[in-house]
Amino acid sequence: MIDIHTHILPGLDDGADSTQDAVQMARAAWDEGITTIIATPHHANGAYMNPADKVITQVELLNERLLAEGIPIKVLPGQEIRVHNDLLDAWSRRELLTLASTDYMLIELPGHSIPKSITSLIHELAVVGIQPIIAHPERNIEIINNPNILAELIEAGAWTQVTTHSLLGGFGARVQKTAWSLCKKGLIHLVSSDAHHVSRRGFRLKEAYERISTEIGTEWAEYFEMNASRLIDNKSFSSPPKQPNKSKILRKITRFFQK
Ligand SMILES: [Fe+2]
Repeated sequence: MIDIHTHILPGLDDGADSTQDAVQMARAAWDEGITTIIATPHHANGAYMNPADKVITQVELLNERLLAEGIPIKVLPGQEIRVHNDLLDAWSRRELLTLASTDYMLIELPGHSIPKSITSLIHELAVVGIQPIIAHPERNIEIINNPNILAELIEAGAWTQVTTHSLLGGFGARVQKTAWSLCKKGLIHLVSSDAHHVSRRGFRLKEAYERISTEIGTEWAEYFEMNASRLIDNKSFSSPPKQPNKSKILRKITRFFQK
């Protein structure tokens, strides 16, 4: 499995505190079957600034440490970039990173609002060849109240990533309900952990894919997993499976007859 959104780099944000924490996280990820992790420390979110060169240095150091520890997991550079007015200029100043040096960039909306400039930002990013992925839209209050807003952002050219903990109930019932509803509406393209700490907020990626298989079908789990793989290769995402709203009972019956 590939995890495209994590806070594994030590000491950069509210993720891993120390190298020991980061090693523990990598070991836990490997144990559940994750082979590749994109490190996405917060950038420009009002609390943390982690420009490109700092992230790249920390990724190299962590990979060296993981090699020494015998953990065969690969960490690739990225950022979780808060949408802000300076974003395009920061890109020109080479302070920003895409995910794993691809054309995909992980962007974060504020928790309580959608910036008015977001659609024009999505268009302007496209002009410079960047495809934005909106991190955990299921946690944004405006999207919770009106999922059509997310459909419009996708129409404008954005992709979306839901968080494993949202699907599994870690952020409460309302976020969980929104997370599943967005998946069932076909408004989600990727699943990732947004892991911050091995026990406080771990990966649970395997568990989330298993739950997706049960709730909306194995074809959706495979679709999300395939998209993470295609992202790493800088390829376009797959076409989504049909019938995301197929009922649980109907799926069980279908599975029974497929046996
Ligand atoms: Fe994050």
